[in-house]
Formats: sequence, C-alpha cells, structure tokens
Amino acid sequence: MTDKLWGGRFDEDITTEVLEYTLTTDVDVRLVFADLWQDIAHVLMLGRRNIIPEQHARAILGALLRLWELHERGELTLRPELEDVHFNIEQMVIEDLGRETGGHMHTARSRNDQVSTDARMYLRRVHLDAVSANLALVEELLSFPEEDLLAILPGYTHSQAAQPVSVGFWKTAHASMLLRDVRRLRGAYERADESALGACALAGTSFPLDRELTARLLGFGAVLSHALDATSARDYLIEGAAAFALGSNNLSRMAEEIVLWSGHEYSLVEVPDAYATGSSIMPQKKNPVVAELTRGRAGRTAGTLVQLLTMAKGVTLGYSCDLQDDKPFLWNAIDTYLSTLRIVAGQTRGLRFDSKRGEDLCWDNFSTATELANHLVSEHGLPFREAHHVSGSLVSALIKRGSTLRDTAASAEILAGLGHPVEEAVLAHIFDPRTAVTSYTSPGGTSPRSVEAVRGELRAAVREHGRWLEETRQRLETAHTLTLQAARQIAEGAELAKTLDAVAAELPALHGSAALTTP
Ligand code: ARG
Repeated sequence: MTDKLWGGRFDEDITTEVLEYTLTTDVDVRLVFADLWQDIAHVLMLGRRNIIPEQHARAILGALLRLWELHERGELTLRPELEDVHFNIEQMVIEDLGRETGGHMHTARSRNDQVSTDARMYLRRVHLDAVSANLALVEELLSFPEEDLLAILPGYTHSQAAQPVSVGFWKTAHASMLLRDVRRLRGAYERADESALGACALAGTSFPLDRELTARLLGFGAVLSHALDATSARDYLIEGAAAFALGSNNLSRMAEEIVLWSGHEYSLVEVPDAYATGSSIMPQKKNPVVAELTRGRAGRTAGTLVQLLTMAKGVTLGYSCDLQDDKPFLWNAIDTYLSTLRIVAGQTRGLRFDSKRGEDLCWDNFSTATELANHLVSEHGLPFREAHHVSGSLVSALIKRGSTLRDTAASAEILAGLGHPVEEAVLAHIFDPRTAVTSYTSPGGTSPRSVEAVRGELRAAVREHGRWLEETRQRLETAHTLTLQAARQIAEGAELAKTLDAVAAELPALHGSAALTTP
C-alpha cells in the first residue's frame, strides 16, 4: 500500500517522472477559491442530509475555514506530490483533523464532478471579467465628440478606398461588433452556470444528496442533472474558448487597421506614444507594437480553441485524463484575451485620427464617384446601371489625364462630352466627401443622425449588459457570503440544520432546470 489518498490498491508508488507528467497543481492554483467554496457547500449538504455526523461536518467546516483564511492571506500553497487541488485540500483537512474526521469530507463525491464544478466556477468569473472589459472598451469607443461624426476617413472594401465614412462611424462599427462578443460571453456564462457537483464519479450515488442545495450555495443558476453528462461535458468550456477566440479575432481586425493606418503610406491615425516602441537602430521608428501583438496573440486564443476541440473529440463519456489538459492552454487564452481587451481600451483612448488626411484620400481615390451616379439617377432620371457607366467613364477619363474628382472643371467638361452635363458647382458639392457622409441617412448609414441613432442603441445595450453584470456579480457574492456565514456559525457551534435552513432561505433561487432554460 502507498501513502497516496488512493493508495490502498497499490504496492508501489508512481515515479517522479509520472508524477510530473500527470500533476495539475500548477494550473489548479486558480481553482483553490472554487474548490474550497465547493468543499464547504458539499460538507454543509452532507451534514444537512445526515450523510455524515454533525460533529464531523462541524469540524471539517472549521478546518476548511482555516484554509480559506490561509488562502485569503496568499499562504495556501499546493504540494505537487499531492497531484491536484482536490487531493491537496482533502489532505490538508485530514492533516488538520485526522482521518477519523477529515476522511468524511469526500463522501458521495468524486474529483470528476469536483473538477468540472471548479472549472465552471472559475469560468463564470472569467466571463464576467471579460464582459466588463468589453463594456469598458465599448464605452471608450462610444465616447467620441460630435466632431467625429464628420471627421472623414476613407471606408475600404478589398483594401481599396470605397466610400467616405467618419471616425464616429468606424468607432461605432467596432463597438457594435464587440457587443456581439459580450452576448457570446453571456451565452457561454449561461452554459458554464450549471452545477456538476453531486454527479460523483459518473453514475451518481446511493447517498441522499441535495444537489439543488449545493448548486444554490455555489451561486449556480441550474443543476446539470445527468451524472454522466455532468462529469463528461467540456463543451461549456470549449464554448468559452470559442468566445475568447472570436473576441480576440475581432480585436485583431481593429489592430490590423491601426497598424496599417498608422504607417506613413496611410497616415490616417497616430497611436499614442505610450503604446508604441522605438527601434534599436533606426532612430525615426515608432512601431505600433501593442496593435501588432493584439493581432499576433489572436493566434494563441485560436490555437487554444483547436487544442480543446481536438483534446475532447475522442474522449468517450465518463472522465478520462485527456480532459485534465483542458486547463493550461485555456488559462493562457484567458490571460491573453483579458489583457488584450484592457490594453486596447487604453490605446483606443489615445488614438488621434487625421481627418484632413482622410478627406484627401477620399478625394484622391474617387471615393465619391457613386455620388455622381446617384445624382444622375435622382436628378436626371437615369437607370442606375447607366448612371454607373457614365460615372465610371468620367473616372477613367480623369485617370487618363492624371487628374481626380477635385478637378470639377475637367469633370464638367467630360460629362458634357458624355451627353450628361452637370454644373461645376453641383459637382463640387456632390464630390465632397462630407456631403456623401452626411447624405447617407439610411438606418446604420454614415450620416451623423444615423450614427447617433446607432450610438444610442449601442449605449442602451451597454446599460443592459451592465445591469446583468452587476446582478450576476451580486448573485455570486451573495451566495459566497451566505455559504461562508453558515459555515462559520456552524463551525462555532450553531445547530447545523437550523442555521443552514435559515441561510438557504436567503440564497438566490435557481433559474430553472438546465434542460429547460432558453436555448
Ligand atoms: N486534476 C484532474 C483534472 O484536472 C482532476 C480530476 C481527476 N480525476 C481522475 N479520475 N483522475 O482534470
């Protein structure tokens, strides 16, 4: 027999090499808060259901609270030789109270339901942090002054100047995109927010558990009832990784624009000095490294998603050790995504757009040729296809002369030659990028009114997400506080059933059965 918690069946201990290959204590550091909270909830329930004697529950709660204090002080360290957080905490409780008492904690539970419950609890926090960081960035994007509604930028398709847009239009586009990331994160939160605790190893248990009670003590919205599914599922976690990967991809697209547009060839935007670095050899350089890393690090989050999908796809139902590899890359993806969201918000605050340059590029690149076609439709009654042809012919003729739409005299002459005369003053007006931006009044278009309307909608969405974030944080906070409060009172001698029932009455209710919540 070895002295492992599982040692009864073994004659020989694992080698150091095997331990190092299999341990998860390094990644489990992030799960300590969840594991302790979960242990406390489990023991409260075991005591309430008389699955373990009240005096043992009381003693174990006392030991767990001592560990909680140690953890709060940053002094709880996991011993690698104990493999993972679950064995560490169980061993600490046993070392504190002896096996006679501490050995009761793991009744009617397995590391298989434990680890998934821990990961769900940690992910809930991460999703809330990611929603919060996204909302901060969206608020930054939406806080532009009124002038930005007519601060001109070229809008691009095919990386070629297409039609004029405004800085406000560009910022609201990214805000709109990021709010979809927020919705995705909320969806991922909902799937993570189901308790696996009480599923035990894979099949449930013969002990009379109260899974709803532990779920509520842990602040979960639902119980994931099916024991085999609850211990096997990792889709909730892969969905989280997908949300991080998509969110990072969206940030990367913005970063790509900033990298390109801050170069001399575009000169459309200047990155704040604090978000760029210089060259060791070329004194003139100012490199937009934060934006470059934002772009590059989307590779980490995308890689994590692929790693997780690949890790899980061949695992038959029931826990297999493959699944413990769900954490290391995911942790990296989380850190990457959260740090990127935060730094991008800071960088966004300091971006300086050059709208004079934006206007020049629009003029130089025939960005308002569509306006002539539209004018010929609405004022001359031409079919659009015909008007498109006339305007295209004008562009072609101007290019051959080495000129642009700025040359209204030449444009008027060419149009007259094409049999569609338009006055020079009219051309000067319709070719002006500001005219185009102002006149696109369709919902979602570039006009200041349209952009303000969208900004209003996006701000309303930010407020709604903000309320959800507050309520959800509050829900978790309440459940945590009440769980610790019950544990403390009982550890100090209060009667278990009475104390727990009083606390349970104040716990947030479950949203409903997991299978019945909205798809
Ligand atoms: N440390 C493991 C993990 O991270 C916990 C579950 C282990 N369960 C088992 N039967 N080996 O997934």
